[in-house]
Amino acid sequence: MRLTQYFLPTIKENPTEAQIVSHRLMLRAGMIRQSAAGIYTWLPLGLRVLRKVEAIVREEQARAGAIEMLMPTLQPAELWQESGRYDDYGKEMLRITDRHDRPLLYGPTNEEMITDIVRNTVKSYKTLPLNLYHIQWKFRDEVRPRFGVMRGREFLMKDGYSFDLDEDSARLAYARMFVSYLRTYARMGLRPIPMRADTGPIGGNLSHEFIILADTGESEVYCHRRFVERSAKVEVDYSDAAAVTGIMQDWISDYAATGEMHDAKSCPVPPDQLVTARGIEVGHIFYFGTKYSASMKASVTDASGQPRDMHMGSYGIGVSRLVGAIIEASHDDAGIVWPKSVAPFTVAVVNLKSGDTACDAASEGLYQTLTNAGVEVLLDDRADRIGVKLADMDLIGVPLQILVGPKGLERGVVEIRQRGLDDRTELPPDDAVKFAVEWVRS
Ligand SMILES: Nc1ncnc2c1ncn2[C@@H]1O[C@H](COP(=O)(O)OP(=O)(O)O)[C@@H](O)[C@H]1O
Ligand SMILES: [Mg+2]
Repeated sequence: MRLTQYFLPTIKENPTEAQIVSHRLMLRAGMIRQSAAGIYTWLPLGLRVLRKVEAIVREEQARAGAIEMLMPTLQPAELWQESGRYDDYGKEMLRITDRHDRPLLYGPTNEEMITDIVRNTVKSYKTLPLNLYHIQWKFRDEVRPRFGVMRGREFLMKDGYSFDLDEDSARLAYARMFVSYLRTYARMGLRPIPMRADTGPIGGNLSHEFIILADTGESEVYCHRRFVERSAKVEVDYSDAAAVTGIMQDWISDYAATGEMHDAKSCPVPPDQLVTARGIEVGHIFYFGTKYSASMKASVTDASGQPRDMHMGSYGIGVSRLVGAIIEASHDDAGIVWPKSVAPFTVAVVNLKSGDTACDAASEGLYQTLTNAGVEVLLDDRADRIGVKLADMDLIGVPLQILVGPKGLERGVVEIRQRGLDDRTELPPDDAVKFAVEWVRS
């Protein structure tokens, strides 16, 4: 992408409406703009990151055996009346009436809808287990939308639903999602901590929230200090049930609980090992047995021909919130420091003197060669001052930056910088290409 042909409205000053760093940086980096309280437009740069986050979620869901579909944002009220949640949900639910006076709602979540689909299509235990998910916009009329995409009213969620014949199989489905969540966040450069959580209005008996530590987080966190440095890059063979369950057991054997679940008196962790902190909830998983299948009559016949209510779980990832959460976890004074896996562009070629024949030719050459090699390159071909260009590249956080200037070219080199690191390397342009391609693939 050539910056002169792109849409990247960056802002120099700190926007006064933003209270936390990720919100400030997303506005300044030209990633989002607010359209109404808690409702945002994703500008091109922000959308690129959002899509990368989605892609990682998709890959890890597929690996764990979940199948993608897409349910609508609008839902008929009847389904929620059937489950009993239409009244319970209260003012958070955006209720809409169509021209025929039929009550609709903008989905805050999809348990009812997926249960309806599955009960109408799945009749036999032979179709189970089943794990279906979608990535779709949700609306919750939050009392206090704040912190940008962190607590929006409209937000993008991956929500998945598992259906099993019995509790054992449902617990395995839960463990699979547990492990896939660890891997998903790890790939985004995060250190997730799974916490025992309250099941809340969704109900049920087993639930974990995945939280990443950040001072600006809205959740209170009490956990063993081992979690703080623990990498969630787990290797797993999903066909090996014992291995999957083993990984989950290992992760939940250390104490970690959110504020609502923590009890200082019964906490098993000695005070000097206990971390008390704040964190951002980036995912939440539930096993709730037959709560919805019983109220909505979603049963299958078992091997002996008897009807049995399906055991269900639901699994949410805050896709749009993650974009903010990753920034909270990875930034410095100059701006965002994207992990390579979610960076909007992995490499920037910065032409330090646009209009100079040698600089133009070398930058263009690097841009073309890297683009042809499949690298996502942003070419800063603007006529701005060097300081402005470098500040913008740091602000938007491009992880690898190749600086092309007249003095270097006289010596036959360009400069390579890695965002967030101090070391700078000079290489001939051809070697810079090799270095960049290898770095991107590594
Ligand atoms: N208002 C919101 N804005 C952005 N992301 C949200 C919002 N509410 C929930 N999420 C994300 O969706 C995930 C699943 O939501 P869920 O656990 O059902 O919501 P809650 O924790 O608000 O009850 C959460 O872990 C969080 O990452
Ligand atoms: Mg939650």
